[in-house]
Amino acid sequence: MIIKPVKRLLGEITVPGDKSISHRAVMIAAIARGKTRVANIQDSDDCNYTVRAFKEMGIKIYEKGGVTIVEGKGLKGLEKPDSSLFVGSSGTTMRILSGILAGQGFEVTVVGDEQLSARPMKRIAGPLSEMGAGVGLKDGEYSPITIKGGRLDPIDYTLPVPSAQVKSAILFAGLYAKGATSVTEDFKSRDHTERMLKYFGAAIKVKGLKVSVTGVGELKARPVDVPGDISSAGFFMAAATLLKGSKIRINGVGINPTRAGIINVLKRMGADIKILNKKNVFEPVADIVVESRITRGVTIKAKEIPTLIDELPVIFVVAALSKGRTVIEGAAELRVKETDRIRSMLENLEAMGVKMKVVGDDIVIDGVRGLKGARLKSFGDHRTCMAMAVAALAANGESEIDDVSCVSKSFPGFFDVLEKIACK
Ligand code: S3P
Repeated sequence: MIIKPVKRLLGEITVPGDKSISHRAVMIAAIARGKTRVANIQDSDDCNYTVRAFKEMGIKIYEKGGVTIVEGKGLKGLEKPDSSLFVGSSGTTMRILSGILAGQGFEVTVVGDEQLSARPMKRIAGPLSEMGAGVGLKDGEYSPITIKGGRLDPIDYTLPVPSAQVKSAILFAGLYAKGATSVTEDFKSRDHTERMLKYFGAAIKVKGLKVSVTGVGELKARPVDVPGDISSAGFFMAAATLLKGSKIRINGVGINPTRAGIINVLKRMGADIKILNKKNVFEPVADIVVESRITRGVTIKAKEIPTLIDELPVIFVVAALSKGRTVIEGAAELRVKETDRIRSMLENLEAMGVKMKVVGDDIVIDGVRGLKGARLKSFGDHRTCMAMAVAALAANGESEIDDVSCVSKSFPGFFDVLEKIACK
């Protein structure tokens, strides 16, 4: 795709439903009792893999009157699928689903594509086998992952890396164990699972950085309205900040504090961001208004990383065009996303003339006055692709991105929304 710089962004948009919340809505609804109506579910490759996996395990999921209906069959209501479950490149599906499969009465293999098959899965296998599930991995590290569900024991687990996916898998498995299962993390990761399980009636307790669930009660269907995805909104928040004269409004975005780190960081950089119409059901939602501003470099501490992990690529782009130095501490987890995002972003930003250094797990970016249009690569990674599209909009001269089809993983309409508000 050829991307020409634009003057500014103006207008009002919405973004797709939140990816993390959409996955959880389908999964929790499938193991609840009764019909759950899910509004604004994300229609993307990743979320569609989650829907397909549950359909293959006998759950009825269909559209009716613009919402998605999931007919839950209770905690142990899933049926053994006819063959292995294919989840594409959806790490969230593979990891979180594993926790539910650990509590079922059958054996099943979950297979991913080439990209997912290179991502770490031992972090899931460890705690789930400790609880008593049979878990097999390729070379003891990678998917395909084979899970033989059975009787589970509760555990008290401390996460070696902050990961909401691992935390969620353990909490899901904990629904099937007799007694209290606890997960403790060093830094708070997104808490969508805790919130939604509680909303569906699970016995969840949160005490600081420790979350506990007491198994074996049933979950009850509840209506879910999925907020707009702040990770998708982040690209537009960054672009509107950078492009002089911009003013955009993004309606109905989830602003859960464990996800909204990008708002805090952009504001610290000097961005003009207003949060309007705040509402709260089981997740806080608001409209976000962003106007362009000159930004400056900041330090992002390791404990903030989980609250903005998926937004780091686009934060790198804002840092590259900010005055002074930005330091991002403890960003190691970026190496095990859809791509090694430290490498993929470094290669792209260097091509545009940015000075970016990697020191251990820290990243140092020195702002430049302008970006050069360049030939860029998505590496098949949706967030690298959309972050570089934002960089290309703010560059001097035309850029090219080799393959943009990967945006369908979380935001199939990304370029259409951009086209709607771009003033050329
Ligand atoms: C997610 C958690 C994060 C995030 C991913 C979605 C989730 O991954 O990067 O896009 O929905 O729980 P980790 O749990 O690996 O940090």
